[in-house]
Amino acid sequence: MKVMSLIILIFLVSCGQFVDSPYATNAENLQKNIENIEIIQESFVTQDFKIAFISDTHNYYDDLRDQIDFINSRNFDFVIHGGDATNLGMQREWDKFFGIIEELNIPYVVAIGNHDMLSNGTAVYQNLFSRKLNFSFLRGATLFIIHNNNNWESSREEEVPNVSFLREQLERNDYEQAILIGHVQLDDDDRYSQGQINQLKELTSNYNVPFVINGHNHNPGEGTFGKATRLTIGSSAFRKVLSFEKKGDEFIYEFLDI
Ligand SMILES: [Fe+2]
Repeated sequence: MKVMSLIILIFLVSCGQFVDSPYATNAENLQKNIENIEIIQESFVTQDFKIAFISDTHNYYDDLRDQIDFINSRNFDFVIHGGDATNLGMQREWDKFFGIIEELNIPYVVAIGNHDMLSNGTAVYQNLFSRKLNFSFLRGATLFIIHNNNNWESSREEEVPNVSFLREQLERNDYEQAILIGHVQLDDDDRYSQGQINQLKELTSNYNVPFVINGHNHNPGEGTFGKATRLTIGSSAFRKVLSFEKKGDEFIYEFLDI
């Protein structure tokens, strides 16, 4: 009996503390993106808007809290998160992120990042935010297209980036300009072939897409992609918020220090 007790004791000590499984997916089915998009659309008064973009918040929780406080103290209409809300897509990371982002007093929409697709992160995202990883919404005459372009982390059976989805959206005739948002920079030549990059450049240049916006790279910055201006939101650790405003026919953007 003593020997058995000793074996059990050694087993318990050697195993350490039991913690949540990294594959846990017990998130409530909240569909916050869908709920918030309805609020964004219902609040439409003029064609103008002012958005705060944040991205790559990972486990920079203190910086994220400061970004939320900053946004809440300014007159933004809504927030778009460019993905990588977690490091490993784990339920408890999602829970922590969700608790903070819900402190926003305006609606928000979250794109999926490559880190978010690790473990069972995609399933958690699909419960918390939206079943669809590729989706769009109109705010007045501006079409926001949010797509999953995390090709390495997606199923091989899927087309990622999904050019058919993008084309279908851009062929719509109910918008004046489209803003394309995806986590990875579209000219990332590690992830995409030159053929894919050229195809995406041609597609966005054939329609009125003045801006393509991404996260993933942690340095905030800007450049071009075909005819579009490319904006990289940057991570929370850089302690900036990308303010993106439509005022009449003009788009005004600025990386604001928080
Ligand atoms: Fe990323």
